[in-house]
Amino acid sequence: IAGVLTVSGLTAIPAQAESNAAYDTSVWSRQMAEKVELTKDNTAPEIDTDFDLVAPDHWVWDTWPLQNRDGSLAKIKGYRVAFALVAPRNLGWGARHTEARIGMFTSKNGKDWTYQGIPYEYEEALGHMQWAGSAMLDEEGKVHFFYTATGEKENWQQDNWERTAPQKLAKTTFDISADKEGVHLTNEGEHEIMLEADGEYYETIEQADSPIITAFRDPYFFQDPATGKEYILFEGQTGDNYDYLKPENIGDEEYRQTADVPAGAEKYNGNIGIAEVTDDDASELEMMPPLLESIGTNHQMERPHMVVKDGNYYLFTISHTFTYAPGLTGPDGVYGFVSEEGMFGDYEPMNESGLVIANPEDNPYQAYSWNILPDFQVISFINEPRDENGEVQFGGTFAPTLQIEVDGKTSTITEERKHGEIKPFGSYSKQY
Ligand code: FRU
Repeated sequence: IAGVLTVSGLTAIPAQAESNAAYDTSVWSRQMAEKVELTKDNTAPEIDTDFDLVAPDHWVWDTWPLQNRDGSLAKIKGYRVAFALVAPRNLGWGARHTEARIGMFTSKNGKDWTYQGIPYEYEEALGHMQWAGSAMLDEEGKVHFFYTATGEKENWQQDNWERTAPQKLAKTTFDISADKEGVHLTNEGEHEIMLEADGEYYETIEQADSPIITAFRDPYFFQDPATGKEYILFEGQTGDNYDYLKPENIGDEEYRQTADVPAGAEKYNGNIGIAEVTDDDASELEMMPPLLESIGTNHQMERPHMVVKDGNYYLFTISHTFTYAPGLTGPDGVYGFVSEEGMFGDYEPMNESGLVIANPEDNPYQAYSWNILPDFQVISFINEPRDENGEVQFGGTFAPTLQIEVDGKTSTITEERKHGEIKPFGSYSKQY
């Protein structure tokens, strides 16, 4: 019977919430994700466990470069600048998340990085911890420093933080200068919350009922080159109104005839959120419906970011094996979706499944948090690689950079470079 799904555990599809948006949320369906497989084009080379630490006293993980408003990488008097989550190395590997701060790294040659410390006053920053974000340098030389304020300094519940610590999109600003000692961020602005989950498009922590922590995090600044309009992308989950699978979350009609969707798949309700920037300071935001959703497919579409090439909009996100919905699996990797019809067109999975870079089968957690830069260089961090005895060595430093070549909807890993290397390229367009 048309409209009725043979989905175990789901009996009815509630009326869908109406949206006024001029675009439809794209879908990463179970049918697409079922095609995920490791190939020579998407499997990263194995990482040697004999690595140096970029900041020996710190765990270092999610990393992002300072970008100009147009997405090109910024250079400050010859210095490249990157930010990364940091925590003291004498804390346990797992404990680093609850002590995360954002540190600054600088490099003259794009290969050797110097850790320059945490550029802000922790007491002034929002959140018990500061999680991933992005950084934009405007035309006047102001750094707009976007991050996730996770938890509150008051009412912190260490034993139950995953269920009680809200994530909010936050920002502050700095002036930037450089001399022989390195790069200086000064004149720290006030820290402010830009956006919180609304409970409809984006799940609040109170609504969360999945086995995995909910998300409203990882703000990424993006200027659409076609219109000049600016946006913040972020990781979210769909709000409670959507606690079911729509037919398109499963796949096309033919696929649905035989699809077996285990009960509980609808609780894996990841999405890539978006808000429009409505002021010059990138601090006023207007929430919009998600750009992409993976309801019934995967719970987490983390650190979303965008690269535009030849009019194609490439939307990248990182995800994990453990966040796939029941009945599906895939590697820890970076996944990509491409729209040929502009920023709000239909995003189709790259390489048919979405998979762009995967950890190798024998070393499935060696790296994570890939960030694809404007010319498709890919930075990431060393996560939990195994040595030749099969023992896990915790990383917490920059991983070897990869280069991918993108041709329309397909991608291939073409090169491996030094740890944390960011090769000079055309997109270092502006000098300050
Ligand atoms: C990805 C991530 C981000 C988050 C950070 C917290 O590695 O989960 O989404 O901001 O790690 O450590």
